[in-house]
Amino acid sequence: MSDLADLRRQYAQAKLSRDHVADDPIEQFRDWFDEALDADVHEPNAMTLATAAPDAAPSARIVLLKGLDDRGFHFYTNYESRKGTEIDQNPHVALVFWWGPLERQVRIEGEATRLPDEESTEYFHSRPRGSQLGAWASPQSRVVDSREALKDHLDAVTDEYADDERIPRPSHWGGYVVQPTEIEFWQGRPNRLHDRLRYRRSAPDAEWTIDRLAP
Ligand SMILES: Cc1cc2nc3c(=O)[nH]c(=O)nc-3n(C[C@H](O)[C@H](O)[C@H](O)COP(=O)(O)O)c2cc1C
Repeated sequence: MSDLADLRRQYAQAKLSRDHVADDPIEQFRDWFDEALDADVHEPNAMTLATAAPDAAPSARIVLLKGLDDRGFHFYTNYESRKGTEIDQNPHVALVFWWGPLERQVRIEGEATRLPDEESTEYFHSRPRGSQLGAWASPQSRVVDSREALKDHLDAVTDEYADDERIPRPSHWGGYVVQPTEIEFWQGRPNRLHDRLRYRRSAPDAEWTIDRLAP
């Protein structure tokens, strides 16, 4: 392994200033997301989701952003997974995007709530059949005996639904929307003097205020 202390890069691609960002952070996010798509960032909708258990111990994992609207940032998962049970007990979450080729990070904080069942069902049926069966077969975050046991479970549900064109959505699988109260845009700059603009609002219908933060 190379010397980690020697790994360093100068960031110099772009700047971020109050005069050139949108007043609404969702609009600003969409602009940056489109630029990440144009730059061929690998899985630009992959984001780290951090949750915290009631004893305040944090946990984090990657999930995929699957929708964005006035309500916030959507993702789908197993409601009985570790993240699902933590959100049930503490809805405060954080999301982080890292778009390396653009030297950009976006941090989001807010509250997660379940999407309406109809929306989860509609999205569930838009997924490939194999993914739908996988949602039935995998007790996400639980200990399993072996990979074979999972495969057996998948085979069993595949047989069970073999004659059904439409597989029902498991009630333990669905979406969440994260309603943001804070969104920070970070642009890498030379000499570690990065640009950080933070949007914050006190309530979901309040105005956003924008502050520059020290890097
Ligand atoms: C690129 C990538 C995308 C992922 N997308 C999702 C996703 O959208 N939903 C999901 O439940 N897990 C997704 N995962 C798996 C999660 O990172 C995690 O392993 C799983 O959800 C269990 O997390 P938990 O035990 O903390 O609940 C993804 C993993 C990677 C690496």
